[in-house]
Amino acid sequence: MKTLIISSSLSPDSKSFILCSEVNNKLLERGIESKIIDAREIKLTAYHYKESSEMKDLSKEISKADNLIIGMGVHCYSINDSLKIILDNCFNDVTGKFFGILCAAGGEKSYLSTMHLTQICMNEWRMIQLPRVVYATKKDFKEDNISSSELLERIRSFSEEFQSIGSKLLH
Ligand SMILES: Cc1cc2nc3c(=O)[nH]c(=O)nc-3n(C[C@H](O)[C@H](O)[C@H](O)COP(=O)(O)O)c2cc1C
Repeated sequence: MKTLIISSSLSPDSKSFILCSEVNNKLLERGIESKIIDAREIKLTAYHYKESSEMKDLSKEISKADNLIIGMGVHCYSINDSLKIILDNCFNDVTGKFFGILCAAGGEKSYLSTMHLTQICMNEWRMIQLPRVVYATKKDFKEDNISSSELLERIRSFSEEFQSIGSKLLH
């Protein structure tokens, strides 16, 4: 199965990017064709502006993927602006695709923020979500490394379940 991991944060020291990298490594270890797209390397423009060539390429990559994993940072109890741009512009061919969410937040009380992404993906494109979200806060990291063994265990479970359910949905 072809999995595309979209890391949507533009932060130079993005924590959700670290979650995406860790899951990517786990999926590659399991022999899955997995790859990360880092939004920091894409010129993102809002819907009514001219779409950049990188955004067109991202739409094609999303279209080719069997399933998607979306990395998000919480902004104001919701998804961040860059992720909304990606959803509005690059999710043209995602109907029914299986997806998972990896989320970084400042604090522990914003865990329901991922529901906004769930709502968009389910209501707009009837996408099917893995019923396990990896949610991390700054306490789970020491500089650029994951310091929480509990978070590493949740990442392991997420990767295992994503592969197992994702591959069944392809048959
Ligand atoms: C504009 C803005 C709004 C934020 N709002 C929240 C919030 O509502 N709840 C929360 O827990 N953290 C909030 N944060 C903290 C981020 O979620 C946190 O820095 C997280 O690491 C962001 O993910 P990233 O590092 O991948 O960009 C906010 C940060 C910014 C810059």
